Amino acid sequence: MSLLIRNGRVIDPANGLDGPADVLIVDGLVSRVGPRLEAPAGTATIDAGGRVVAPGFIDIHVHLREPGYEYKETVATGTRAAAAGGFTAVAAMANTSPVNDTRAVTDYVLAEARARGAVRVYPIGAVTRGLKGAELAELGELAEAGCVAYSDDGRPVVSSALLRRALEYAQAFGKPIISHAEEVTLAEGGVMHEGFVSTDLGLRGIPAAAEEIMVARDVALAELTGTRVHIAHVSTAAAVRLLREAKARGVPVTGEVTPHHLLLTDETMRRYDANAKMAPPLRSKRDVEACREALADGTLDAIATDHAPHALSDKEVELEHAANGIVGLETAVALCLTHLVRERVLDLPTLVARLTVGPARVLELPGGSLRPGGPGDVTILDLEREHVIDPARFHSKGRNTPFGGWRCVGAPWMTVVAGRVVMQEGRVTGGPAS
Ligand code: DOR
Repeated sequence: MSLLIRNGRVIDPANGLDGPADVLIVDGLVSRVGPRLEAPAGTATIDAGGRVVAPGFIDIHVHLREPGYEYKETVATGTRAAAAGGFTAVAAMANTSPVNDTRAVTDYVLAEARARGAVRVYPIGAVTRGLKGAELAELGELAEAGCVAYSDDGRPVVSSALLRRALEYAQAFGKPIISHAEEVTLAEGGVMHEGFVSTDLGLRGIPAAAEEIMVARDVALAELTGTRVHIAHVSTAAAVRLLREAKARGVPVTGEVTPHHLLLTDETMRRYDANAKMAPPLRSKRDVEACREALADGTLDAIATDHAPHALSDKEVELEHAANGIVGLETAVALCLTHLVRERVLDLPTLVARLTVGPARVLELPGGSLRPGGPGDVTILDLEREHVIDPARFHSKGRNTPFGGWRCVGAPWMTVVAGRVVMQEGRVTGGPAS
């Protein structure tokens, strides 16, 4: 199956490309990128005039909730949300039920993705059995089954000795470990960032130091073992400083940041809205500024959503008992185009880099560029499209977002996976469920 995407502004940071060009996809793979390409007979053609054509966006931090929490999300609904949001691939976290700590669960997720997925799914295996932090999961078996990394995300691996051992094994399998960097004794009982606002509201806070301490430990263990450690959802200025310094010394660490940690501060908690509660919490303005700078200079390699769908009943309880996390797949790109690019925090090619080649390199995934021979995955953006975020229209089962009602200018216009259009102007057409 062939597809020719004509007349767009092609931005492919991995290949230093930004200009008018056509993209030809043949048999699911990028065939050529260049001016006025001729297509073989029978090729479908898309006119991308006035639009931006980029490699398919990759979200390396997503909770698809299946198996076990299908009332929150499934592989089918989560990948449809991804397609709607302009993502062609997602990496799925292991905190399902059962936990993805054995081949059987990885096989299940991959089978669901093949049968019902609208975009590519890369499973992440657990570091420890049942995410309990006591014994290692079947790391070799998980890698063999197709896991691209290991993480107990949602929880840190508390024991440094166990994490060290995990890193030593992970190296043998060539996979990084993704760290949920949170010192649990400091974070315990906290519902928001510790600072002026938490004091003002009388809510228990989680100090920035809870993240800093664990990032410092993780950097030390990455250096000790030589295994790659990726820090999930970086949210503090101190964590950014540690990462920058570690990278400068050549320690194999990478980092990601979420759109919400780039756009919201702890002031949002003044609404006592459980949809602004997540781990790590929304931080101070200074932290937000540090994360923005780090994203621009490459200290933070990727934007990842930490798409964390929950049912209403998980959120409509006292703040203390409300589940952590917000959905992100269907809001990330529009929010970043509106509030990072339009407001000149990042230029467009840098944003595209942090959604494509950046995340692809972190997890060593195929894609992230329009290299001929690579996956025929493309995201097309309409930079002018005005809309208001309406959670009722999400493809995700989760409605838990603090961004409902936000006005955006710019949105994903089309999502193409392996040469197949899976979303056009908000209509998801990919996946057997459509
Ligand atoms: O807010 C969060 N929600 N942070 C995490 O690390 C886990 C996630 C979830 O699974 O809901």
